[in-house]
Amino acid sequence: MNKTIPTRPFSDQKPGTSGLRKKVPVFQQKNYAENFIQSIFDALEGFKGKTLVIGGDGRFYNREVIQIAIKMAAANGFGRVLVGQGGLLSTPAASHVIRKHKAFGGIVLSASHNPGGPEGDFGIKYNISNGGPAPEKITEAIYARSKAIERYLIADAPDIALDRIGTSEVDGMRVQVFDPVSDYQALMEELFDFNVIRDMFAGTFRMRFDAMHAITGPYAKAILERALGAPEGTVINGTPLPDFGGHHPDPNLVHAKDLYDLMMSKDAPDFGAASDGDGDRNLIIGRNIFVTPSDSLALLAANAHLAPGYGKGIAGIARSMPTSMAADRVAERLKIKCYETPTGWKFFGNLLDAGLATICGEESAGTGSNHVREEDGLWAVLLWLNILGRRKESMENIVFQHWRDYGRNFYTRHDYEEVDTGRANALMDHLRAQLGKTDLPAFGRKILAKSDDFAYHDPVDQSDSKGQGIRFLFRDGSRIIYRLSGTGTAGATIRVYIERYEPDPAKQGGDTQTALADLIGVARNLAEIETRTGRGAPTVIT
Ligand code: G1P
Ligand code: ZN
Repeated sequence: MNKTIPTRPFSDQKPGTSGLRKKVPVFQQKNYAENFIQSIFDALEGFKGKTLVIGGDGRFYNREVIQIAIKMAAANGFGRVLVGQGGLLSTPAASHVIRKHKAFGGIVLSASHNPGGPEGDFGIKYNISNGGPAPEKITEAIYARSKAIERYLIADAPDIALDRIGTSEVDGMRVQVFDPVSDYQALMEELFDFNVIRDMFAGTFRMRFDAMHAITGPYAKAILERALGAPEGTVINGTPLPDFGGHHPDPNLVHAKDLYDLMMSKDAPDFGAASDGDGDRNLIIGRNIFVTPSDSLALLAANAHLAPGYGKGIAGIARSMPTSMAADRVAERLKIKCYETPTGWKFFGNLLDAGLATICGEESAGTGSNHVREEDGLWAVLLWLNILGRRKESMENIVFQHWRDYGRNFYTRHDYEEVDTGRANALMDHLRAQLGKTDLPAFGRKILAKSDDFAYHDPVDQSDSKGQGIRFLFRDGSRIIYRLSGTGTAGATIRVYIERYEPDPAKQGGDTQTALADLIGVARNLAEIETRTGRGAPTVIT
C-alpha cells in the first residue's frame, strides 16, 4: 500500500558541493529526509520501472534513511532497488554499480570525511545514470522542489532485511541486497596488474592502509589482503563504525597523524595510505615522504601507462581550479589538454563522458579516472602500487625524480573553520572589491598578473558556473585562491590555497610552509584574515 503523507517545506535543503549535508539531528526532524528524497524524485523524469542504487558509508542514521529511501522508491514507481549489504556501499563503488547495472541513478548516503555519530554529520546525494553526482541543473531543481513540497509518497511496508544477500519485494518493486565489494573488485582487477602487485607483496614490500573505521575497510581487506596477498594487519581500523570510532574519517595530516608519524619513523613500511568516510578520497605517504594530492595527481598521470587499464595512454587530465598546476606540466609533456574546473567532482563528469579527460583530481585528496564518475580512494592506492611494482623504486625517488623533471609546485591549503557566516561573506566581498587592483601594499614584492572570480564554461554542455573562487595570479606563476567551502555543516569555512613553482632542483627540498612563508603572509594580509575573523592561525593546514 502506498501512502501520501502531507508535509511542509524546509527552507534549508540546498545541496552543496556534494549533496545535502547537515547534522544528524537536523536529518532526524520529522519528514526532513523524506522531503529531500521526494524532492529528488520530483525533480527527475522517466524513472518508472527503472533501477535505483542505494547505499551509504555506514555512518549513524544510514540504516534508517536506507529503509525510508527504499519504501519511497517503491511508492514513486521505481521497478528495482539495488542496495549494498548492510546498507554499505562506498561512493566509487556506488558509481560503478550504477553504471554496470544500467541504473537510472543512485542515492548515496554520506557526509564524506565529516565526523559521524548522533551529533555528527549526515548527507544525501543523488547520482545520475553515468554514475556521477547530479549536475547543478538537477541539484537546483531539487532545491526548488524542496521549497514547495507539500506531500511525499512512501510504501506502507515492513523494513527490508539489509544484512542478507538476496531478493525481496516492496509493494511490487524488487529489492536486491548485493555484496558491495565484488563488482568493484572485479573492476580493479581489470584496470591493474594484480600479479605485479602480488609479487611485490610476496617480497619485502610492506604497506599500511588506514581505513579509518569507515567504508573502505571491507574493500581494502578483500583486495589488499585477500586478493593481493598483503599480510593480515596491513589494513588497520578496517571495521566500519557508525561514529568512525569517534574520529574524523578525513585522511589528512591532522586526522591521519598516526599513519603520518609511522611513515616518518625508523620502521616505516614502504607505502602508507588512507581513505575517507565514503571511500572517495585518498592519502598517499611514502617512507619519509608525504605526497600532496596535487603532486599525486601529476605523478599518477605521468605514470598511468604502467597500468594495463591505461596502457594506451590518457586522453586528457582535469583538475579543480585550486588544485596545484603540477598536472598541467605533465599534460604539456604528454601533449594532452589539462582542463581546469570549479571545485567538486561533478564538474569532471562531462569531460569524462565525452572522452576529453581520463584522469582527474582535486587538491582535497580526490583522484580518479574514467572507470567511474566519482573520485576513488582505493583506485589511487592501487594505481600507486602498480606503478611502484613496475618501477621498483622507492616513493621518495619517484617523487624527487618527478620534481627534477618537471619542477616542484610547493602547495598548501589553509582552512579557517566555523567562522561566523556574516564575517566570512564580508571577507569574500572585501576580496572581490580588490579584484583588478595591481598596486595593493599587501602584495609585497609580488607582481600581480591577473585577478578574477573564477568562472567556468563547460565545453561539453556549454553551461556556465560563476563565482567559483577569488584568484590572485602573480607573474612568477604563484597563486593565492580563496573560496568558501560548500560542504561544511556549521558556520563558514574559508579555504585559502597557496602555490609557488620552483624549477630549480637545488631549491626543491625543505618544508612547504617555510617555502611558502612569504606568500602565506601576502594571503593573510590581502584578506585581512586576522582582523576580519579574529583568527591568528588556520584551523587545519594541509
Ligand atoms: C570539499 C573539497 C572538494 C571536494 C568536496 C567533496 O568541498 O574542497 O574538492 O570535491 O569537498 O568531497 P568544499 O568544502 O571545499 O566545498
Ligand atoms: Zn568522501
